[in-house]
Amino acid sequence: MILMSLQIRRLHEWLVDRLGLNRLPFRSVPYSYVTLEFWLGAIVAASFIWLGISGLLLLLYYDYVNPAETNRRLLESKPFFKPLLTSHLIAANIMILGAVAHMLRNFLVGAYKRPREILWIIGVLAGFMALQTAFFGYSAIGDKIAVEAINIGIGFVSSSFG
Ligand code: HEM
Repeated sequence: MILMSLQIRRLHEWLVDRLGLNRLPFRSVPYSYVTLEFWLGAIVAASFIWLGISGLLLLLYYDYVNPAETNRRLLESKPFFKPLLTSHLIAANIMILGAVAHMLRNFLVGAYKRPREILWIIGVLAGFMALQTAFFGYSAIGDKIAVEAINIGIGFVSSSFG
């Protein structure tokens, strides 16, 4: 392991020397630019964009009569369907977990305070919309768990609003 990291460092030094990378006019960036928490919002936005693109492509094959069975058939017959569906599901999880982490981070660092109050309010609305799209996508699968989730959603709405 140590040997490997030594070799990687030597390769890195070799590339920097041969390509003259240390002579390029690189601009130094603040430390905050290289932390994960700074990129959380961008990660959520990127996964949202991919969800939109892959979701539209999946919609081309969506069968509202029997979605779960059609998906199973497509997974076996179309080679591109698996990466499309899998990446859609992974992006959905990244978006929801990322949004929760992003909100927690902003709460803990006090980013809801002046002058960012409006950003916080927009964030709350974006968070609600993200949850709704997640619920929509979840129920679009149309399997037994999705039907149960819809029933819970209906129960929740009718008990909250009468
Ligand atoms: C759900 C979709 C969301 C997307 C796509 C999104 C996107 C972003 C992006 C790209 C930034 C700038 C970079 C960063 O600080 O990470 C940001 C900042 C911010 N977001 Fe979000 N956000 C979302 C949800 C939320 C939620 C749920 C909240 C809080 C309730 C929130 C509150 C904020 C605040 C206060 C900032 C400013 C942070 C700072 O300047 O330190 N956002 N958002």
